[in-house]
Amino acid sequence: MKTVIEPFKIKMVEPIKLTTPEQREQTLRRAAFNLFQIPAEEVMIDLLTDSGTSAMSAEQWAGMIRGDESYAGARSWYHFEAVLRELTGMPHVLPTHQGRASERILFELVAGPGKLIPSNNHFDTTRANIEHSGAQALDLVIAEGKDPRNRHPFKGNLDVARLEALIEEVGPERVPLCMATVTNNSGGGQPVSLANLQAVRAVCQRYGIPLFLDACRFAENAALIQRREPGQAGRSARAIAREMFDLADGATISAKKDGLVNIGGVLLMRDDALARRADDLLILTEGFVTYGGLAGRDLEAMAQGFLEVLDENYLQYRLWSVAYLGEHLLKAGIPIVEPPGGHAIYLDAASFCSHIPPSAFPGQALVCALYRQAGIRSTEIGSVMFGSVDPSTGESRHPPMELVRLAIPRRVYTQSHIDYTIEAAIELFERANSIRGLRIVEAPATLRHFTARFEEIV
Ligand SMILES: Cc1ncc(COP(=O)(O)O)c(C=O)c1O
Repeated sequence: MKTVIEPFKIKMVEPIKLTTPEQREQTLRRAAFNLFQIPAEEVMIDLLTDSGTSAMSAEQWAGMIRGDESYAGARSWYHFEAVLRELTGMPHVLPTHQGRASERILFELVAGPGKLIPSNNHFDTTRANIEHSGAQALDLVIAEGKDPRNRHPFKGNLDVARLEALIEEVGPERVPLCMATVTNNSGGGQPVSLANLQAVRAVCQRYGIPLFLDACRFAENAALIQRREPGQAGRSARAIAREMFDLADGATISAKKDGLVNIGGVLLMRDDALARRADDLLILTEGFVTYGGLAGRDLEAMAQGFLEVLDENYLQYRLWSVAYLGEHLLKAGIPIVEPPGGHAIYLDAASFCSHIPPSAFPGQALVCALYRQAGIRSTEIGSVMFGSVDPSTGESRHPPMELVRLAIPRRVYTQSHIDYTIEAAIELFERANSIRGLRIVEAPATLRHFTARFEEIV
């Protein structure tokens, strides 16, 4: 059979409110053109994020009932720790309430003024936590990773030569660790190859620098390695994922992605002394080391989610449904980041809205247009999220790509929801010239995409 079916059936449903264009226009204006500010009920297809939006399985819900809520040494903790140790081989497993809590603890320990943290592309919370510590976050993705049309199979790879040159230039003592984001969310959800991780590890080892993974989407990265990297087709996603972790000294994970849960995170490390210091910080703000800001039932749901996500049938369906959206958009001539990655399709907003300059936020304009058109919520990953204004010159700085991310929640939408999204994008593309740019009216100093207020340029 050629059709790939969802490898699950639906036992519980949640209604979607079908809105009219007039209702959506009002909602959009009330939210000052920022879709983080609208009630989720006003959204018909919510592709804002794949984070924390998964549907849980019957086994995960059963685990929620079994959860042991003891303060210290709960049964659920031992279950969770055993699953994570088996999966990753990391001796120290610290539960956190979500990915950014793991990042905050890690960078409070190792970063600080004068330090530099390289990565392929840092995610926004990772960058913000590094900068909050006073350190500098550097993106060293390969050149192909910045070209939306390039179909390189591993556009999330780190530029190993640039990494080495950086360490030589600043000295290894200023680089407390190197990160690799798998898959590379800010760079189009593109995977990192095993060969690249091995090369990065070799450089890090030569200079005594630990390598940490931002492993939110480790299973999707492993499944893409299985499909795209020579010699990997015969291996299981689980074995590939384990090899990825074996190459690292630690990892931060937001379990809200490949943990298939609505809340939860993990900080993993091999170094005993660093782990003891991390435990102290964990207790300070998250909770005791055997629950870390989570309930016992959350630990059970995560333990089960980390097992289910490596099911080969699940991964086949997952990658196929994302690619289905991408290939249909491409067939209609819509510019996207190619090839389709693991969790999302990224529209190339600079090209979709080529009449809107980066200073008028083409990505944000496209996000608003998709909502107006069909009640679809997406996210801008461009000049709103990563742009800034130079305080000394007043000049705007823009990132290399202006993207709109259509992130697909795991096990939530069916093929007809995806078909509806394709139809909406095609209709909008045909009248792209009518989309208007935006200007920022009000914005905070950091993470401005969550709360900035905009107005349309008429
Ligand atoms: C690559 C990456 N790292 C870190 C995070 C932060 O995780 P959380 O939202 O759980 O704090 C995210 C969330 O989207 C992410 O995609």
